[in-house]
Amino acid sequence: MQTSALEFIEAGLVALERSVRDHDGELRNIQLATLSPDLHPGLRTLVLRSFERSPPCAEMHSDTRADKVRDIAQAGQVTLLAWSGAEHLQLRLEGTARLHCDDEIARRRWDTLSPNARNTYGHVAIPGTPIADPDEQAHLPPDEQFRQFTVILVSLATIDVLRLGPGGQQTRASGRFTASGITAAWISP
Ligand SMILES: Cc1cc2nc3c(=O)[nH]c(=O)nc-3n(C[C@H](O)[C@H](O)[C@H](O)COP(=O)(O)O)c2cc1C
Repeated sequence: MQTSALEFIEAGLVALERSVRDHDGELRNIQLATLSPDLHPGLRTLVLRSFERSPPCAEMHSDTRADKVRDIAQAGQVTLLAWSGAEHLQLRLEGTARLHCDDEIARRRWDTLSPNARNTYGHVAIPGTPIADPDEQAHLPPDEQFRQFTVILVSLATIDVLRLGPGGQQTRASGRFTASGITAAWISP
């Protein structure tokens, strides 16, 4: 192999950063796995709003009353998974999530959102509960809507990168985020 495991992981992270920066590409629609209080695994797609290297952190947004937020409030250990068919690339990241609701961080993010983006959060009906008509979805008043907006910040601990080659061969490396960068190693796919 001509590249090192670290270069291989770096290339995966560059692809993720590009997708977030350009608001484009499949990697930005990331899967978030949580564990419910009764130990049922939960999985759903979220938009990856930002990805930082130092310290390593992934940011997503949701409604405070959503199941995923309840799960994280109970147990912060989460896994993120991104797959790009165009790039034949899978990234899996593990870390610890913390929630920001009705605080300074939530306010700063909220202030950058367009009215349409804000309307993604804070419906009158609690997420996951029955409604009469999907075309009739009322929103809470703006201040209350803000209070139902949660920023999810995941402090990242590990990364696993898998790339599929043209012949279907798999190349895989795992890494650990440390204070001084990433420690990386090739692993068997
Ligand atoms: C492409 C795509 C992007 C999504 N982005 C978000 C998001 O950024 N935040 C969010 O809360 N839900 C988002 N959703 C909806 C979630 O996947 C999920 O259906 C919803 O949040 C309820 O999840 P929960 O009941 O597990 O909490 C998105 C769905 C899709 C298909």
